[in-house]
Amino acid sequence: MRSLLFIPADSEKKLAKGFACGADCLILDLEDSVVPEAKQKAREQALTFLASALREPKRPRLYVRVNGLNSGLTEADLDAVMQAPPDGILLPKSVNGASIQHLGALLAVKEAEQNLGDGATKILAIVTETPASLFTMSSYAGASQRLEGLTWGGEDLAAALGAETNRGADGAYTFPYLLARSLTLFAAAAAGVLPIDAVHGNFRDLVRLRLECEEGKRDGFVAKMAIHPAQIDIINEIFSPSAESIAKARAIVAAFEAEPQSGVINFEGEMLDVPHLAKARRLLANLREG
Ligand code: COA
Ligand code: MG
Repeated sequence: MRSLLFIPADSEKKLAKGFACGADCLILDLEDSVVPEAKQKAREQALTFLASALREPKRPRLYVRVNGLNSGLTEADLDAVMQAPPDGILLPKSVNGASIQHLGALLAVKEAEQNLGDGATKILAIVTETPASLFTMSSYAGASQRLEGLTWGGEDLAAALGAETNRGADGAYTFPYLLARSLTLFAAAAAGVLPIDAVHGNFRDLVRLRLECEEGKRDGFVAKMAIHPAQIDIINEIFSPSAESIAKARAIVAAFEAEPQSGVINFEGEMLDVPHLAKARRLLANLREG
């Protein structure tokens, strides 16, 4: 999963447009991109879309972003969309591991009603949207088997802080948001789930999008969220491992296998030890998982 595209679920046109735009995952949004008066319409359209899209033999993964657990809307969101259960739910404004367990308990009831196995529905969580949530990052490790990934966002956090902006004059995130981004990365790694980078809101600025993708990949993010179809090709390109990196990973694994008694090897003049082998194996394992 390299690219995840948000689609406001009250827009029939965008739902149709998003299906075949190349995104690995679609996130049908019931939260911030939908005004309160349109929530019910968005739920109904998300359900209709899911019921048909889930039947397609070749389809992206399908997620729904519900409204946060404090909104009073989450259960009605789930009542609607779990009639055609998506692959997973994106939880906004997650506060800690208990938020994941809370959502998991709601999902378990819906899964039982649908004769689905307990845990069939995965969870992704946005973990930096409230200031308090930055102090609980370690609680995601071991919280739930459903948890598939963690992601972050700088917009709700900036609003909560009363910040003038979250980016400097050069367009890059300022320190508080880079901290939130880093904590998300550490928390995902500690929990053994996917670290997914935040959306880039200026969808016409594909130069900065490319740069953010490169920085994200460099630091260990495996995917990035998107808000516009024009962002998908760049995200997919950058988060796909290159032919060179695949070849190098294979060569590293082979070099370690050739010296099974040695924890450290000389690989073309570079010292490689256990973490390098683990990284190469992970890259190859991710390829097999698609
Ligand atoms: N999913 C699917 N289709 C989308 C889309 C999206 N996220 N964003 C735009 N499109 C479609 C448009 O409907 C338009 O279709 P058309 O060519 O058939 O008219 C086409 O792509 C080009 O869109 P464009 O005119 O460049 O942008 P816009 O003004 O229609 O939309 C936004 C701009 C920001 C309103 C829109 O991209 C959007 O709604 N993004 C998602 C927002 C969201 O979900 N936010 C919450 C998470 S942060
Ligand atoms: Mg938001």
